[in-house]
Amino acid sequence: MKKQELVFQKRLERHHDELKWLYMELYHNEDMFAELCEKLHDYYMERAEWLKELDLERESDPTWYKGNDLLGMMLYIDNFAGNLKGVKNKLRYLESCNVNYIHLMPFLDTPKGRSDGGYAVSDFRKVREDLGTMEDLAKLSEACHKKGMNLCMDFVMNHTSEDHEWAKKAKEGDGEYMSRYFFFDNYDIPAEYEKTVPQVFPTTAPGNFTWYEEVGHHVMTTFYPYQWDLNYKNPRVFNEMMYNFLFLANHGMDIIRIDAVPYIWKELGTDCRNLPQVHTIVRLMRMIGEIVCPSVVLLGEVVMEPIKVVPYFGTLEKPECHMLYNVTTMATTWHSVATRDVRLLKKQMDIVNALPKDYTFLNYLRCHDDIGWGLDYATLLTWGMEEVSHKKFLNDFFTGKVEGSISRGELYNDDPIIMDARFCGTTSSMCGMEVALADMDEEQIKNAARMDLMLHAYMFTQSGIPMLYSGDEVGQVNDYSYKEDPDKAVDSRYVHRGAMDWELAKKRTSKKTSQGMIFQGLKQLEQLRKESHVFDADAQVWTVDTYDDSILCIIRHKDGEQMCGIFNFSEWDKTAWIDEEGDYVDMITGEERVMKAVNIPGHDFIWAKRK
Ligand code: GLC
Repeated sequence: MKKQELVFQKRLERHHDELKWLYMELYHNEDMFAELCEKLHDYYMERAEWLKELDLERESDPTWYKGNDLLGMMLYIDNFAGNLKGVKNKLRYLESCNVNYIHLMPFLDTPKGRSDGGYAVSDFRKVREDLGTMEDLAKLSEACHKKGMNLCMDFVMNHTSEDHEWAKKAKEGDGEYMSRYFFFDNYDIPAEYEKTVPQVFPTTAPGNFTWYEEVGHHVMTTFYPYQWDLNYKNPRVFNEMMYNFLFLANHGMDIIRIDAVPYIWKELGTDCRNLPQVHTIVRLMRMIGEIVCPSVVLLGEVVMEPIKVVPYFGTLEKPECHMLYNVTTMATTWHSVATRDVRLLKKQMDIVNALPKDYTFLNYLRCHDDIGWGLDYATLLTWGMEEVSHKKFLNDFFTGKVEGSISRGELYNDDPIIMDARFCGTTSSMCGMEVALADMDEEQIKNAARMDLMLHAYMFTQSGIPMLYSGDEVGQVNDYSYKEDPDKAVDSRYVHRGAMDWELAKKRTSKKTSQGMIFQGLKQLEQLRKESHVFDADAQVWTVDTYDDSILCIIRHKDGEQMCGIFNFSEWDKTAWIDEEGDYVDMITGEERVMKAVNIPGHDFIWAKRK
């Protein structure tokens, strides 16, 4: 047997029994399982030589993505550089940002005006025409790898666009294709579902079903009406979607983000979220990846409370996702900004720090989606903060309606019934930069930049992979132009998805500008982070009491090296009443520091390393 064949057989053997067991549990279908195994072999054979080499390399170093040197940036291709070729031409810029993990936001074919930012895919094997071709993608991937950069893309597996070939055939009444979705000829069953299934977009896309006059059927559409939920009870759907996954992986992806994964299995009488079968499918996917393309990492998009997030890592013996978003920490961070109270953040960090070090989180301050206020309200209530009124306070604070707030942004899916609006805004606008720039107030600009950097420094101090949103590295503010585009106007998430302003970005070289303050400040932090092993994922991390509710103190320790981060979440000058042994050096200024009763200006931070 040829060496490559042996490699494949060994990988398949390793997982075969569990793979078959789980597959049969879901589908009881030997033929479809046999087809799946055959196709795994085909996709393995089709995989480029250099990717196969990368597979072997990463198999022998399975922690490759856990180092302190990985820094991500998410970007929309058109907003950032027009098209895929444009991104390739901008790799040097990304390098200068220390970015080596590029998340290309959805770029597969999608109908204009009915795309949900690309999350309604009409062809999983075709790039949206204005962005380029599959070949451009493969070329970009090669160029990235030559520079040691990794590529990430979304795999939107919960649904297809209503324009997808399957949906089109289903619309024509082809039963085989109708069975790939959820079709109902009357509202009886949908009505039953609606009793237990919450809504994702209560105001922009209410309900979980859409009536299609031309087919005379209701179709399940958890997200927008043009996003048709796939029926994973049908093994044809599972198999075909796995083939799509492998096809994309073979185009040189390093990280595949599985979009909206908690939603992929539906069961009447449940909330249709996080059902056990979802975990079976993710586990199957993990094994399929390890058999065909083991260099690929799965990033699960699980925007849920912590108790539902962690199970997506699976167990040590039966892992599911490699990485998950640290979503509760992100939302709690902004809560701390508005309240100037870090008690909940400290509690949240303690929970995350107590988890096994093998769990890798993706840390971020904001992404392309809204910020939902999924906080630990049971704890907040003990401090007098009640859920509904607190959410209102947070939204008022970030829209600048509260005295003392110069944050700017917009509400998202403001649901008057459950009073549960979420929030949209760029990091910099939320830190007050938008108002400061409009007022041309030097002092305010410096304050906003200081706060922005403090939040990033705090984010970099967490264990895991930091992820920036393109434009945040130069402090781009909200972009309200989406309101003039009828395709986007109803969706306020576009306010923080503005196009990169390269003219403004040029100013990043001068520290006198807001762009320069943020860009250069970040650069220094990123550099320090990748130079020091205290930032490794397996470092010991704990929080320290500062005896001031506005100040968070984090210690990271690895192999005798220790760093201490202090973050002032208030605008007032404060003292962190800590008492850390040893002589420290300020990592930013190089000055000696004693980490006892440390003074710290409003919205500032300290990174200090023990000598
Ligand atoms: C994910 C995406 C979001 C999209 C949704 C539906 O949550 O992040 O932007 O609207 O999935 O695909």
